Amino acid sequence: MCGIVGILGSQPVAPLMLDALRRLEYRGYDSAGVATLEDGELVRRRAPGKLNNLQGVLGNGPLSGTTGIGHTRWATHGAPTETNAHPHSAGGVAVVHNGIIENFRDLREELETDGYRFETQTDTEVVVQLISREMKEGKAPKDAVFATLQRLDGAFALGIIFSGQQDLMIGARRGSPLAIGYGDGEMFLGSDAVALAPFTNKVTFLDEGDWVVLTRNSAQIHDETGAAVERPIRFTQASAYLADKGNHRHFMAKEIAEQPEVIGHTLGEYIDMAEQRVKLPELPFSFADLTRVTITACGTASYAGLAAKYWFEQIARLPVEVDIASEFRYREAPLPDGGLSVVISQSGETADTLAALRYCAGQGQHTVGIVNVQDSSIARECDAILPTYAGPEIGVASTKAFTCQLTVLACMALAAARQRNTITPEQERELVSALVGVPRHIADILRNESELERIAKKLTSARDVLYLGRGINYPIALEGALKLKEISYIHAEGYAAGELKHGPIALIDEDVPVIVIAPHDTLYEKTVSNMEEVAARGGKIVLLTDEINGNGNGAETFEQFRVPRANSFINPMLYAVPVQLLAYHAAVFMGTDIDQPRNLAKSVTVE
Ligand code: F6R
Repeated sequence: MCGIVGILGSQPVAPLMLDALRRLEYRGYDSAGVATLEDGELVRRRAPGKLNNLQGVLGNGPLSGTTGIGHTRWATHGAPTETNAHPHSAGGVAVVHNGIIENFRDLREELETDGYRFETQTDTEVVVQLISREMKEGKAPKDAVFATLQRLDGAFALGIIFSGQQDLMIGARRGSPLAIGYGDGEMFLGSDAVALAPFTNKVTFLDEGDWVVLTRNSAQIHDETGAAVERPIRFTQASAYLADKGNHRHFMAKEIAEQPEVIGHTLGEYIDMAEQRVKLPELPFSFADLTRVTITACGTASYAGLAAKYWFEQIARLPVEVDIASEFRYREAPLPDGGLSVVISQSGETADTLAALRYCAGQGQHTVGIVNVQDSSIARECDAILPTYAGPEIGVASTKAFTCQLTVLACMALAAARQRNTITPEQERELVSALVGVPRHIADILRNESELERIAKKLTSARDVLYLGRGINYPIALEGALKLKEISYIHAEGYAAGELKHGPIALIDEDVPVIVIAPHDTLYEKTVSNMEEVAARGGKIVLLTDEINGNGNGAETFEQFRVPRANSFINPMLYAVPVQLLAYHAAVFMGTDIDQPRNLAKSVTVE
């Protein structure tokens, strides 16, 4: 996660950009840089490390340009050196970028074959070179950017300026946030409204796939097809910036939408993008020495643990026990000497999880915490923490923290597999590459949100809803049911699909929607058989799958939603999103208090 800012100003913009970058430093501070137009020429100032270093560089070499872009970097591709610091520039184009360009290797190879030389190890430089190549071929900056956007895979936000173009800046977003700020004869771009707060309170948040052509007096927004579109202008309260809902009605909606970005950030922390392998921080044990892992957590976090069991057992051949903390803490479970206990908690304060952690520590276990709040009690008491980088989660129903927990656990399972010699380097690269695709796939799912909204409406007349999944999708069925009941108050249960006939099938009739999570993995056919059992009893099947055909592969379906087809390793992260959105929109239709559902609390510090 990096921070970007852009200003078409009426006075020298470098000091203003420093101010904005300071507000964005929470997004990363491996290096920082700005580029401005000095007499029409692009000039950059960059420095590794924190913003103060850039401030020093600017002190020695001030810039006076009134058109500029700035960046504070959180390194993914390439070490945090000055060379790798943004803005990147070539051929009269300068770019700042937040996110991941997944296909940068292919693009770089193509450009190198075409004679283009690269200075950095970053993925961003391909964007610069592609735009400049399009311009060399005669395209205007706007058309060159649009053509380049078609070539990029990944989730990203961009800010772009051009030499000789004092009154032009282009921004684009896909998966990572970007806001336009309107001034009086000035225009701004920023990763969030916090960055823009000193300049304006008049803001437009770009929608997924949007790109914008800015001058000092205009903002022409286009959607991903290139069509001109209007997006609402909002007046934000300066005091509310830090807890701003952006374009969203609820924090939960905002947090669902943030998932491409925060998962990208979390991946950047645990993956060496250049080597395409996982890089965990040093841990005080080796996975090779473990005979068992014990995972404890509550609620949604425990479902992340349950999904991890499949990864650890299948990929790292490491047995895992998962238990809810409120049971585990009193169970007096015998634990193997020198075993590993993993606790998962967004807040890091959940009383039962903390007690489970203390029990495990007392039994001589190594303890690792997967926490979102890094100065929480659980974080402080663990031997080591593997943080999720989800940012503050305000909605009571956990969404982005859950998918970030899954992301960390997936990386951890791969690290364990490598240490235990249960995967080859090629297999690791393949799975890492699948993980890097998660933000892009989730951005694709979010684009089809209106379909889930339509389906959700049909759930609101139900008294009971069942969720079915098999294998690693079973925890997602549990999570889907929990999300629906906690925010819409519709009764819902998640079941392992194969368990249906051992009792729950008695509930099925034409009034019971059954949400089936069935990607085309090795268990797909088995799940289809269970769907047929439901259909035969008049149950209304809502199928979440990655390939839709007319008849739901045999069983008659009531509704279908398509999730991008991907390596089955990453399916839990992908299928989590439609179940979140179904619950969210059902709750919107029901008119409940979505961010603060009745009887619940964000941090459960009582037993
Ligand atoms: C459900 C939800 C809860 C939490 C649980 C654990 O949407 O948010 O089930 O997952 O209370 O909380 P943490 O992760 O803070 O320990």
